[in-house]
Amino acid sequence: MTTDAGQQWDAAAYGQRFGFVAQLAEDLVGLLDPQPGERIVDLGCGTGTLAAQIASRGADVLGIDADPAMIDAARAAYPTLRFEVVSAYDFTADAPLDAVFSNAALHWMTRPEDVLRRVAAALRPGGRFVAEMGGGRNTELVSAAIRDALARRGIPPERQARPWYFPTPAEYATLLERHGFEVRALWHFERFTPLAPGDHALADWLTMFASPFTGDLTAEDRAAFHAEVEDATRHALYVDGRWHVDYRRLRFVAVRI
Ligand code: BEZ
Repeated sequence: MTTDAGQQWDAAAYGQRFGFVAQLAEDLVGLLDPQPGERIVDLGCGTGTLAAQIASRGADVLGIDADPAMIDAARAAYPTLRFEVVSAYDFTADAPLDAVFSNAALHWMTRPEDVLRRVAAALRPGGRFVAEMGGGRNTELVSAAIRDALARRGIPPERQARPWYFPTPAEYATLLERHGFEVRALWHFERFTPLAPGDHALADWLTMFASPFTGDLTAEDRAAFHAEVEDATRHALYVDGRWHVDYRRLRFVAVRI
């Protein structure tokens, strides 16, 4: 997806090395419980893996993502499904939706109320909003190491990029209620996640996901930056010969009143 920070991703690498993002959320599709014929939008669908799973249950799915490369990859992988380049901030439905689904996308949208306004307007009364995103204290070890490495480069916290939005359960439930949703269930849980095998896995994760912080660095300094983040987190995140990321998820089922 194209993020609020203007980041554009390498869709091929995302699909190949970060397939766990969709795999770990497969039970979210179970929570959505798509029914044959239901009209469902997958918001921030990325390369389309979960949209395809929703479609396999007989639902009529549209996957949207702001990043054209992601949509190209989704269309190539699932040519019979519908995918469109649309930002969550602009999305509208031509007829009321039965559900909106989203995995690992909402934390890239730093104006959550603008997104919730769109989702609420697109759903029919009784329609579901089922999603998972980074929740409060998500990636806090990695984030602290990033912030320290930036501070050592003379960029104080108040001038550092804020590309991610990781709300607490109370904060997000309040927003959902303010936008006309009844919160049926909400979970906030740790997901200490192994990355692909290999000593470069955390550096690869930083290249893929943390580029809003490193855009002004030279290629050489970026490598040094990644090494500093590795050094600062190795004691906690390099476990049993494998890099991990300290994810915390916020997952919810909300119904449009
Ligand atoms: C996440 O899925 O929680 C996430 C991914 C990349 C950067 C930050 C958070």
